[in-house]
Amino acid sequence: MSASLYLLFLAAAIVPPVPTGKGPWPTRQQTADFWDLDWQLGPASVQPKAKPPTASMGLRAQGASVYRQRCSTCHGDNGRGDGPDAARFDIRPTNFTYGFYKLRSTPFPSIPTDLDLFTTLTRGIHGTPMLPWRQLSEKERWALVTHLKSLSPRFKMERVQKSIRIPPPPPETDELRLRGQRLYALMECATCHGDAGAADGPIAKDTRQWGPNSAAPIRDFTRGRFIRGTEMTDLFVTLQTGMDGTMMGSYNALLSEDEVWAVAAYVRALILEHPVEHFPRARTSGSRAASLTPRSQHKAGKTADDQTAPH
Ligand code: HEC
Ligand code: HEC
Repeated sequence: MSASLYLLFLAAAIVPPVPTGKGPWPTRQQTADFWDLDWQLGPASVQPKAKPPTASMGLRAQGASVYRQRCSTCHGDNGRGDGPDAARFDIRPTNFTYGFYKLRSTPFPSIPTDLDLFTTLTRGIHGTPMLPWRQLSEKERWALVTHLKSLSPRFKMERVQKSIRIPPPPPETDELRLRGQRLYALMECATCHGDAGAADGPIAKDTRQWGPNSAAPIRDFTRGRFIRGTEMTDLFVTLQTGMDGTMMGSYNALLSEDEVWAVAAYVRALILEHPVEHFPRARTSGSRAASLTPRSQHKAGKTADDQTAPH
């Protein structure tokens, strides 16, 4: 790719980001900052310390009881996403009876692993009212996993597939990003996410219900709040597995692993805001926050670097 084309790409990308104060969710920004903080203070690792407790009637009863106390106000007594608080949020709490989960380490169309669900409970979902549940003991979180699984017949009828393999990410070179940019166009990601990733593609305003979890808006890459995370490996998993029940499909069959890395590098280059960097840094296990995007001197946004490991 010629240098002039790359400069053109940089110039195009420097167009100021749209998000602040715009869009149909005017209050989101204020509240999201609070959620950012909680996200930032997350643990460096979500790997459970102890082995999961063995399934038992007692564990299930505990799960049901913790669920009633902590989760049903949003997710509803029967897990239908219709609790009394649900209407307050612009992102609808998940209806667990369908058994479709966005945050999986398993290939589409598999149900998630127990560890996937445990991880979601431990980390919360960045930028949404689904906060991390670290005040619950690990045993309580595993009990909740058991309860969540009991809410959908999918967990009885289907067998969970193995988590996808995450190879080591390649270095994020300009060449890789440019390859990613071409693939972003070829795969028509911009139809939803927009050319600069600002969630303003032609069908971004399409409010039809695409699936049981599709009430969440299309991700605005420029704002840097990704529910799974913004590291290369997070994006790799998202693109390989898709987000079930939403418009965000799995690109497993369409892109090779190398191509997925290229697209991931390009998406990272579109991030303009790094919402958590102004807060005290969470303990991190290494220097994962060190990679730079091409037109930003900011550190990579996520410092509570934890959930990206294969589950
Ligand atoms: C304040 C409201 C609220 C409470 C309380 C709450 N959640 Fe959530 N939860 C949400 C919202 C909103 C979403 C959807 C986020 C999204 O789709 O991006 C969600 C999503 C989820 C998901 C789905 C993740 C996926 O992969 O799709 C799980 C699992 C979950 N919550 C578990 C729980 C459990 C267990 C509790 C109780 C310990 C709980 N939540 C309490 C609001 C809440
Ligand atoms: C048909 C519309 C559509 C297309 C096409 C699409 N996406 Fe998405 N994408 C979405 C929606 C909607 C979400 C938000 C899902 C949610 O959280 O409910 C999303 C979320 C994402 C996320 C955020 C994951 C996170 O952790 O928050 C990434 C990254 C992403 N898409 C990348 C891509 C890339 C790259 C392409 C092209 C290869 C693509 N998308 C194509 C609709 C689309």
